[in-house]
Amino acid sequence: MSDFQTWVHAHQQRFEEVLRELLPPADIAPQRLHAAMRYSVLDGGKRVRPLLAFAAGELAGAALARVNYAAAAVEMIHAYSLVHDDMPCMDNDVLRRGKPTCHVEYDEATALLVGDALQSLAFQMLSETALADDSARQLQMVKLLATASGSRGMAGGQAFDLASVGKQLSISELEFMHIHKTGALIRAAILLGAYCGKDMTEAQFGKLDHYGKCVGLAFQVVDDVLDAEADTATLGKTAGKDADNDKPTYVTLLGAAAAKKMAAELHAEALQALDEFGDKAQRLRELADFIVMRKY
Ligand code: IPE
Ligand code: IPE
Ligand code: MG
Ligand code: MG
Ligand code: MG
Repeated sequence: MSDFQTWVHAHQQRFEEVLRELLPPADIAPQRLHAAMRYSVLDGGKRVRPLLAFAAGELAGAALARVNYAAAAVEMIHAYSLVHDDMPCMDNDVLRRGKPTCHVEYDEATALLVGDALQSLAFQMLSETALADDSARQLQMVKLLATASGSRGMAGGQAFDLASVGKQLSISELEFMHIHKTGALIRAAILLGAYCGKDMTEAQFGKLDHYGKCVGLAFQVVDDVLDAEADTATLGKTAGKDADNDKPTYVTLLGAAAAKKMAAELHAEALQALDEFGDKAQRLRELADFIVMRKY
């Protein structure tokens, strides 16, 4: 196992316990909702957003105890977005992270409430403990996650996605959709991790943000490619769903080869944005490699 893989596995395992502790126990009321929240967050997922937060936190010299909360907040928003994304009124998927989707395992009303409750819990995480050196910075973190999740971020991108079914989008429209539905939260994960640590210059935050913008978009371009090329068992979610649902993607718009080339270009641009950070940004570089080269 490479040093990077060891780092990834150690954080994934450790963070699983963090999430287990932070989620409400399934034996307190309302038991069914709590069980469904735990079902949707635990035991699955690559934890890419938390890993990005940990890597950015390392770069900024942040205490791990702080970054845990920020990473948990982002992962809870992400898990909620997946639960809703899979519902019959959206992508209508039955498989997620190798398990039946939340509305299949439980029911639609529960899936709706899982999303509601995870979103609230995410903001509780960001407000509960002193996560930044000053409260103004911490408030900025709350605002950052709120913007990244809401109608100017993930939820807005999802609205655009649903409105685009059956349509041919321009490249810039597709980029807008992907940057919002997926990029915004990835970008937020990186900045939140960094905000947990020592102050950087605005220019440095700008570089990190640019890295986040590139890997965030690349992440969804690769998701589009995998949907078209990988199989259901490897993905842990139904392959070929975008074509079934008549979704415009980078694959339908550009073809798989050009989509892969675009991901490679975004990868290079992301690495370039990290140049001035030297060795301290090594994990972020390796995560950019993983995001572009992943098979699931
Ligand atoms: C899937 O995200 C949804 C997208 C935003 C493309 P991930 O590929 O990070 O899903 P998990 O968390 O690993 O299941
Ligand atoms: C989802 O995009 C983005 C979210 C905000 C959940 P997709 O609909 O492509 O994600 P998958 O392929 O179902 O994971
Ligand atoms: Mg979707
Ligand atoms: Mg989907
Ligand atoms: Mg997809």
